[in-house]
Amino acid sequence: MTDRPDLQGLPLERKATLLSGQDFWSTPPVEEVGLPSLVLTDGPHGVRRQAGDLTGMGITDNLPATCFPPAVAVGNSWDPSVAERIGEAIGREARALGVHVVLGPGVNIKRSPLGGRNFEYYSEDPLLSGVLAAAHVRGQQAQGVGASVKHFAANNQETERMRTSAEVDERTLREVYLPAFERVVTEAAPATVMCAYNKVNGVYASQHRWLLTEVLREQWGFDGVVVSDWGAVDDRAAALAAGLDLQMPSDSGAGDRRVVEAVRSGELDAALVDASAGRVAALARYAGGPADGFDAAAHHALARELAAGCAVLLRNENGTLPLSSDTRVAVIGEFARTPRFQGGGSSNVNATRVDPALDAMRELAGRELPFAPGVGDDAAARRAEAVALARDAEVAVVFVGLADADESEGFDRTTIDLPAAQVELVRAVAAAAPRTVVVLSHGGVVSLEGWHDAVDAVLDGALLGQAGGGALADLLYGVANPSGHLAETAPVRLEDSPSWLSFPGEQGRVVYGEGVLVGYRGLVTQGRPARYPFGHGLSYTTVATSDLRAEVTGDDTVTASVTVTNTGDRAGAHVVQVYVSTAAGPVRRPSRELRAFTKVGLGPGESREVVLELGRRAFAYWDVVESGWVVAPGEYAVQVCADAETVLLEETVTLAGDELARVLTMDSSVAEWFTHPAAGPALVEALTATMPADAASPADQAVMLQMIGSMPMRRFAADFGSALPTDLLDRLVAETAAARTAP
Ligand code: BGC
Repeated sequence: MTDRPDLQGLPLERKATLLSGQDFWSTPPVEEVGLPSLVLTDGPHGVRRQAGDLTGMGITDNLPATCFPPAVAVGNSWDPSVAERIGEAIGREARALGVHVVLGPGVNIKRSPLGGRNFEYYSEDPLLSGVLAAAHVRGQQAQGVGASVKHFAANNQETERMRTSAEVDERTLREVYLPAFERVVTEAAPATVMCAYNKVNGVYASQHRWLLTEVLREQWGFDGVVVSDWGAVDDRAAALAAGLDLQMPSDSGAGDRRVVEAVRSGELDAALVDASAGRVAALARYAGGPADGFDAAAHHALARELAAGCAVLLRNENGTLPLSSDTRVAVIGEFARTPRFQGGGSSNVNATRVDPALDAMRELAGRELPFAPGVGDDAAARRAEAVALARDAEVAVVFVGLADADESEGFDRTTIDLPAAQVELVRAVAAAAPRTVVVLSHGGVVSLEGWHDAVDAVLDGALLGQAGGGALADLLYGVANPSGHLAETAPVRLEDSPSWLSFPGEQGRVVYGEGVLVGYRGLVTQGRPARYPFGHGLSYTTVATSDLRAEVTGDDTVTASVTVTNTGDRAGAHVVQVYVSTAAGPVRRPSRELRAFTKVGLGPGESREVVLELGRRAFAYWDVVESGWVVAPGEYAVQVCADAETVLLEETVTLAGDELARVLTMDSSVAEWFTHPAAGPALVEALTATMPADAASPADQAVMLQMIGSMPMRRFAADFGSALPTDLLDRLVAETAAARTAP
């Protein structure tokens, strides 16, 4: 690794060249200080190193690399070791391909099931997204290859992504849309953070000082490079002032010239150029040594192993799965022969090889299995052919899903339905076959309605990467035991999704009207059942959960322990999901929020005690008055759940939390004054002293207080509060200010 080069002696113009790319994918060298050019390429689930010269976008002409399971699948693994091992392997390939920063992972929250890029993101839950992304970054950077956590922030749709303004209140940003970034930054120190294309509350993310400097650097301590998404810079000088270091790709020096002019005219402080150029130069620590090759066969095998941990067994009636090698199976559906394994757009990897599930199933069965594509030009004939095979089989395994053209970066979907021909195929096969298994391939979530009840088992692969076909065969035949869980709710109806009313916005704005009630948080709070809730996933074994203990270890911390026992006869991995539920505090809380999880391997009959720490943030909400995280004193239910809808065990704890005493002003309401722990009793005492003997009863006073409770004290005191001396009020204002303890 190269030490941080000293830029001090360089003229302004030269330093400014470091603030933008020299072409589409690399930074400029600065030979006089020994600074090499660095290559940044996509990411996130494999290296997309453009072949040939780097002057253009070249989405399709890329060097071969392993296509690992995309984030949609890694999200379903609930397993940071999957993310970490993918990061490590990508790091190895990047070094071999001469890449210094791989642009990933993406941690935007899946706000809507329609999000066109949901395949590239982990989850609708910020904890799950953050834990997995931090593991990916750790793995990749341990190989000496920088990461770029993206797209910061509130880039939750593709529609008008370069112009729309995400209108999000601060509590929602802090609780839902920022925590995954925060966790990656504070736990894994990524080399770069990529700002989003969109505006956030009216300001381009690339020019958003609050986001890029106050939150990211000052509050979270980020000291790496903020890089623009490709083409996200609108006003280069404003972006630099806001905290954006590196503009990508090259704009032929226009941005750098603008920066120089702005410094010369006094519009920009030269220190900003020094700081940003210095940070870009410090990326040289990722310059790496001589590139080694990578072992493509070993990485393919790794991709298969990891993919098996990502698929979700949604349904398995009467032990239909696993198949045995002598089960008479008919394989149906073009996706069995031509896998759909990754999403479209900038993340599209040129895979080193692709395993069709059909071949892998034949290998495991040890014989030829009949196959019919089921769909095609003459749909009816294709369907009839598939139905004939299904009728002769014991089990029909039908591969359906979304095609490449149905979803991609750059546009959102308009429906979650499977294509009609695929639904008809499933229904026709299910009517003919003794038993039917559906295998799903898709990036964004798909509806299971109209066919779900007619089939016996559903194995949801989402997108599993280049070795996904082999992994699906391993799972279908029981070589591997399914252990994935949904990282995104599968709703009954698209309309049930909490963001439905305001996605994707209109006339340049998208109002995040559901607030913090995103995904399962909204559905569970409203009591709307999903087809399959967030967190759902079956296994070929069974696990019993017992002996939950929740021990309060401080004012706002709890240790939860629970015993999990594999009660079946197969080894399996089990995810312990811990949620917290509370009504404490002055804000509406989601009914339940995921606050800790871990995946544990259990042999047949094995029992383990799992201990999970719930820190302060597991109980906190973002308080806009205090401008900080607050743990409200009160009761909190610690729930071990099978999924977001199903509580298995629950323990309630009482937390001391934070002193919520507010500073009172004359604009505080009468109710705030009277309920204030210090000022309230003093006021009551003052009032009681002036009251005649026949004053209102305490019950009448309570009704009165309710009636006038929302009046600002200023007006109450002026118009009705003659019994409240001004000097008393002034004294209490001063005392509450002095006594305030910030959370
Ligand atoms: C995408 C980024 C990507 C970049 C470079 C942009 O369009 O939003 O995720 O890293 O292009 O390909």
